[in-house]
Formats: sequence, C-alpha cells, structure tokens
Amino acid sequence: MFTFNLYLARVKKRISWVNRLIETTMKYGYFDDENREYVITNPKTPYPWINYLGNEDFFSLTSNTGGGYTFYKDAKFRRLTRYRYNNIPVDNGGKYFYVKDGDTTWSPGWKPVKTELDHYECRHGMSYTKFKASKNKLEVEVLQFIPLGFWGEIQKVSLKNASSDTKKIKLFSFIEWCLWNAEDDMTNFQRNFSTGEVEVKDSVIYHKTEFKERRNHYAFYSVNSPIDGYDTDRETFIGLYNGLDSPDVVGEGQSRNSVAHGWSPIASHYLEMELKPGEEKELIFMLGYVEVEKDNKWESKSVINKQPAQDMISAYDTSEKVNKALEELRTYWDNLLGKISIESEDPRLDRMVNIWNQYQCMVTFNMSRSASFFESGIGRGMGFRDSNQDLIGFVHQIPERARERIYDIASTQFEDGSCYHQYQPLTKKGNAAVGGNFNDDPLWLILSTTAYIKETGDFSLLDEMVPFDNDASRAKSHFEHLKASFYHVVHNLGPHKLPLIGRADWNDCLNLNCFSEDPNESFQTTENQKGGTAESLMIAGLFVVYGKEYVKLCKQIGKEKEAEEAQLHVDAMVEAVKEHGWDGEWYLRAYDHFGKKIGSSENEEGKIFIESQGWCTMAEIGKEDGMVEKSLNSVKEHLDCDYGIVLNYPAFTKYYIEYGEISTYPAGYKENGGIFCHNNPWIMIGETMLGRGDQAYDYYTKIAPSFLEDLSELHKVEPYVYCQMIAGKEAHKPGEAKNSWLSGTASWNFYAITQHILGISPEYDGLAINPCIPSKWDGFKMKRVFRDVTYNIEVKNPEHISKGIKKILVNGTAINSNIVPILEKGKEHSVEVIMG
Ligand code: GLC
Ligand code: GLC
Repeated sequence: MFTFNLYLARVKKRISWVNRLIETTMKYGYFDDENREYVITNPKTPYPWINYLGNEDFFSLTSNTGGGYTFYKDAKFRRLTRYRYNNIPVDNGGKYFYVKDGDTTWSPGWKPVKTELDHYECRHGMSYTKFKASKNKLEVEVLQFIPLGFWGEIQKVSLKNASSDTKKIKLFSFIEWCLWNAEDDMTNFQRNFSTGEVEVKDSVIYHKTEFKERRNHYAFYSVNSPIDGYDTDRETFIGLYNGLDSPDVVGEGQSRNSVAHGWSPIASHYLEMELKPGEEKELIFMLGYVEVEKDNKWESKSVINKQPAQDMISAYDTSEKVNKALEELRTYWDNLLGKISIESEDPRLDRMVNIWNQYQCMVTFNMSRSASFFESGIGRGMGFRDSNQDLIGFVHQIPERARERIYDIASTQFEDGSCYHQYQPLTKKGNAAVGGNFNDDPLWLILSTTAYIKETGDFSLLDEMVPFDNDASRAKSHFEHLKASFYHVVHNLGPHKLPLIGRADWNDCLNLNCFSEDPNESFQTTENQKGGTAESLMIAGLFVVYGKEYVKLCKQIGKEKEAEEAQLHVDAMVEAVKEHGWDGEWYLRAYDHFGKKIGSSENEEGKIFIESQGWCTMAEIGKEDGMVEKSLNSVKEHLDCDYGIVLNYPAFTKYYIEYGEISTYPAGYKENGGIFCHNNPWIMIGETMLGRGDQAYDYYTKIAPSFLEDLSELHKVEPYVYCQMIAGKEAHKPGEAKNSWLSGTASWNFYAITQHILGISPEYDGLAINPCIPSKWDGFKMKRVFRDVTYNIEVKNPEHISKGIKKILVNGTAINSNIVPILEKGKEHSVEVIMG
C-alpha cells in the first residue's frame, strides 16, 4: 500500500509537472525574424496584441483581430474612427470586413464574426499588419498600412477561390466614424446624436460632421471598384439590438443604402463578386483625411470639395502603386534599423536589439504616452520627462526629428529651469491644467541634448534660440536652457542639501508635498503643501549623473569657468548623499515633508526603493567606500524576483497619506512593489559600473519580452514589445504584465543593452567601446552606422571575462584608447576588440 501511494504520488507529481510545462510553454505565434514580423496563429491571445501603422502625421492602432482606430496627429482632437475602450467583449470597434460565402459569414481577422477559421494568421510587421485567413477554400488576405508621408490608411484585400467550384462572394467593409474630438465623442451625446453628416458619391463615403462650421477637414473611406451598395447609418447596418458580430445587413446579404443624419455615422461598402476556381481579386480600400483651405471648402451648396480626396485615392488605386508604397516603407525601415544591428549567441537578443526594441522606440517617439490599448488617447499629451528619455532610444534613427523634438520640449520650459510637465502635440503648448513642479523634469533635457550631440556631433543645437513658455520674445540659446535645468536643482535644495522633490520626481506616485484626503482630488495636480520640504535621493543621483554630463559638455565647448563652478555643485551633492542619503546597506529614497526617512530599514514598509539605487550607483556615489556594491547587493537580495526587479519592498499595505499616490495601489502593482520595467535598466547599468556582466544580463533577460514568449499565457501582453509594468512578487499574480508599448522602458532597455552591456556608445569624439557581458559569451558582433561611418565591430572574449579590454584594432591597426575615432565617412571599417 505504501509503495503504491508513493507510486501514485510520483505519477501525480509527474502529471502536474507536464501540465506546468504545457501551461508555461503556451505560445500564440512565433517570430519571423527574416521578415521582421511577429506571426500570431491563434486569434484568442490572452489580451489583444496590437501594432502601429504610420510614421509621421497619420496613425492607426490595429489589433490581431482587426480592432483599433485611426487618427491624424492627435488621438484626442482628430480621431477619425471610433473605438470602445474597456468594452465587453474586449477590443470592440475596428476596420472590419464581413465575407459572405454561401451560408457562411466570417471575418479575415476572426473578429467581429468569430467564425472558426480553417487558417488564421496575423503578421504584425514594421508599420504594417497583414491578415491571412481562409474558410471553405476561400482565402482572404488583408494588408493594412499607411504609405510614407500620406494621410490615409490603405487596406488591400485579396481574395482567392482555392476551391474547384465557382464562388459567389459578398463582401462588406465597416468602420464607424468618430466625431473628431474623442473625448467629446464619448460623452456629449445630447449634441452628438444630432450632428453627424455624410455624403456618398460613387464608391466613396465622406464623413463631414461639423465641416460647415469651424472644421476645415473631413475624412473618407473608399474602394477602387464600383460598389453594389453602401450603408452610413449604424443602426440601419447593425440593428439596434445587435452586436458587431451579427449586423442585420450582413445577415440579409444586401446593403440598404442608408444615409446617416445624426446618430452614429459609419461607412460600409458592399461588393458582390464571382470567383471562378483559382481566380483571385484585389481591392484597395482607403481611409483618408483631408484638410482644405477655408475658402475652398465647398464644391456647391452643402457639397464638399472632393478633389483632394480624389487625388489621394488615385495615388493608390492600383495594386502596383500599393506594392511600391509598401516597398518604400520596407526600405524606410531597412534604413532606420540598419544603424545598429548585432549578431550574438542568442536569437532572442538579436531580435530585440535589431528589430523590436528599436521599433518600439520609434513608436514611443510617435505616440509618447497618448494612444495604446492602455492609454485612451484622450488623457495625456507629450510628457517633458518622458519625451526626453524616449529620445535616447531613437536619436540614432532619426536625428533631425530628434533635434526638432528637443526644441519643442525645451520651448515649454521657464526661465528658472522649471517646466510644464506635459504639452499637447497639436499646439505644442504647455498643458496648464497639469502644470509643473515635477522637479526631476528639467534634468532630462541634459540627457536628451547630450545624447543628440554625441550621436550627431551637431553642437549648433546649443546656439539655437529657443523660447521659454512658447513665447518667442523670451527666447534664449538652448545652452541657456540646459544651464537653467542644472541650476534649477541647485536653487531648490532642502534641509539636507538634497534636491526638493516638488510634486513628484520620476516616480509620479511619490507625492510627498500633497496630502489628499479627498478621493475626488488628483494626486498629480493637487499641491496643497506649498513650500514643501520633501527631498529626493533619486533626483540627487540624477543630478550627479547629468551634472557630470553638463560639466563635460561645458568643457567640450570651452566654457571652462562654468564647468568648474558646476563641478563644485556636483561635488557638494555627492557629499550630501554620502552624509544624509545612505542607510547603511543602501541609499535612502527620500525625506518626507516632516523630515522622516523613506526607503530606510527603519521604515515598517517600503524599506528599500529601486530608483535611488539605480541613480546613485550609476552616479557611482561612494563607490570607493563600497556603497555601490552594497546597494546593488541589496537590490539583488530584496528587490529581485523571478520576473524582474520590483520598485520597492516590502510593498505598502496601508495608506500613508504623507506619501501620496504610491500607497493607494494594492501591493505588487504599479509604483507599489510592481516591476516597473522602466527602471530595471538603471540597475543593469549600475551593475555594469561594477563590471558584473552576468548579473546585468540576467536582469536584462528577465524582462525582455522575446525571452518571455513561452510565458505568454501568464505574461498576457505582446511578446515583442516591453510593457510598463509586470506584477511584482507581492502581487496576487506575479509575472502578469500590463500597459504594453508606450513606456520609457523601451528606450532605457535599448540604451542599457547597446551602450552599457554590449557597451558601444557614442561619445563627442568617437565611438566608445566598453562591453560588460556575460562571462560565458565568446563575444558578439555589432554593425554601427555612426556619423555616416560604418563600423563593423567584432568583440572577442577568449578569456571569458565580463569586462576589460586588452586591445582594439581598427582596420588591423591597434589604437591606444577605447574610443574609436570618427573615420572616413561613407566607408566601412573593421574594429576588432579583444577582451582581457
Ligand atoms: C509613467 C509616467 C512617467 C513616470 C512613471 C513612474 O510611466 O509616464 O512619467 O516617470 O510612470 O511614475
Ligand atoms: C503615472 C503613473 C501612474 C499614475 C499616473 C497618474 O503615469 O505611472 O501610476 O496613476 O501617473 O497619476
């Protein structure tokens, strides 16, 4: 009996182990690195997995089931199509197609009809998405993308009859118009239900709500073929009590040619076609946006000027034209991604660095934090700190646009160095409702500016006249903006000579000068402790890192005196941290308004925080006294877990009014003990300061999405992009991620892996080489295009160490510095690095 039980227990254990294996290796697709695509093969992903289309002014979000929406420049003020956030079921609203083949109705993206498909594939690529589906031997492919420089989304629909019988197919397109202002559209129904207006001419449906008043823009949805009907009134098409999965019109198999007057205007084309066995057909749909001159709005009374739309439509009315535009898009991405590419021992690393991480950085350039499946597109504009940090992820790809971005950001600063926390992309003006006083904000301008100059060598940016508060009459040189940023910290020190935190430093939820007892008040905008004296160790570390950068820059441009003076302030900060910022085993996080410590072993909860460990170790404060090493060892001991490094530990389980928003979150989530992926790379970089390449890389792989692909079931969000937060070790479900795509995580991880772990970083006078890699690696290769010079770098690690260089050969000749100089432009040069 005993042995039998033992046997049974063993079998059970084995089964549960196998189950776990199956559970943990649940994948929903695979990486196609050759085509730079993620291929989703099961539409029922644990959350919608999305992609972004568009690269300049016009954008779409598109999910793996065809959900999503389109906007021009600003997801709040110029939204073209409607989307329903947080809906039931998830991901409702999109660019949908209904195929009716005999009695079977289906959608090539699976949704909205959700008919089981014989084949389904969604390929998310670089700014395009392609669906391939088939049912009953009818194959349909939908390719969506936005041609470069174009204000319209193309949907190329290809149908092929793979059966041996002739098929009669009915095809319905569907989008729902948003009445431009996305916020108003979701709230102001008493007005909106009466304003909607459309026009239909030939195969084009025009959306012209509010065109006759102050709007000089309209939208259209077209197809390059005669149609057999259309609908523009939502209720007529769908039926008041139906869902998008079963519209009346599709059920009946016949459009009703409805013209919307108010309520909810939509655009649906109806096409009938006959396909012989083996026959194929291609259709080109276009969703476009048009702006017209004020006195050129009308063709005749109440009839809009359609010429601009017609011109757009004819630009892409054939498959050849569309294919060419897609080719151009591919070349565009070849160029962007070609500036940095690596060959390592792990394809998961290569695909992050070469493809997806860079791609995500460009998406954050375009979107900042405005529109994703977690950001509704109406909430936030461009963040001062976020946009500066994002820049380090894309400056090598689009230096000119990065320069313009720096200019826009700096224009929202004030003379004393403080700045608006956010600005609106359409107006580029600071957002007064959110205001300023987030005291870390100004310093990030030094990061973005020095990153830009190091990448490009373009010092002229410093002389550019840049307004304060968007007022041209208050312009000063960009250098003066940096100086103002630096001295904003110097002029705002607290009782311990540490930086005052203001409303919040990087951590938006550490609101130490805001004690809100009113649930109707925002932690972000309430500031009821004027003259608050709370101090931040994160800003202290940040100041030392970017203060040193500022000093270095001053020296570069011959401002020796300024460099000397600034250095004194940096030195004083180092001393202040050593004296008042050290807890014994790690750096404190802050002093609260009452002068009490935060992030200390003396605290009951929140004894240790990640941010100050990151910044003070990157700043190497007290390295000679062992502080850096102790701090990072403490991170490992207290903050590290299977899924990454948590923000603080132990997480708060009570509400501490004097801390602000942080303790409002349940333990293990967001800024309260979540793995806030944005700041994990700070620790990776800190580790490289000690030469601990194994540890740095271990942290890297814990949160890099391609390394988590097998955990998709738990991780939930896309395995090809970073998310803002993974639930921490004290959460209900550790490892579950949220808020993918729009996060500083993208740029910081790219920066950490390329510049600190692989260790190849732009400097004012060349490319610095200083890898800090896992000791088991034999080496790696990187191709780096820097200042129009191509460097083919090969790092060899024969002694299996993590850090240290024995020699560097440039085109076969040894150099005696670890900075490879700027060589002949337009040429390829070989750089051989032997570690040792
Ligand atoms: C969000 C904000 C960012 C902030 C971070 C931490 O990601 O966009 O500005 O630093 O949260 O609170
Ligand atoms: C930041 C934080 C988030 C907070 C928000 C607004 O984005 O990441 O946790 O809720 O600011 O307060």
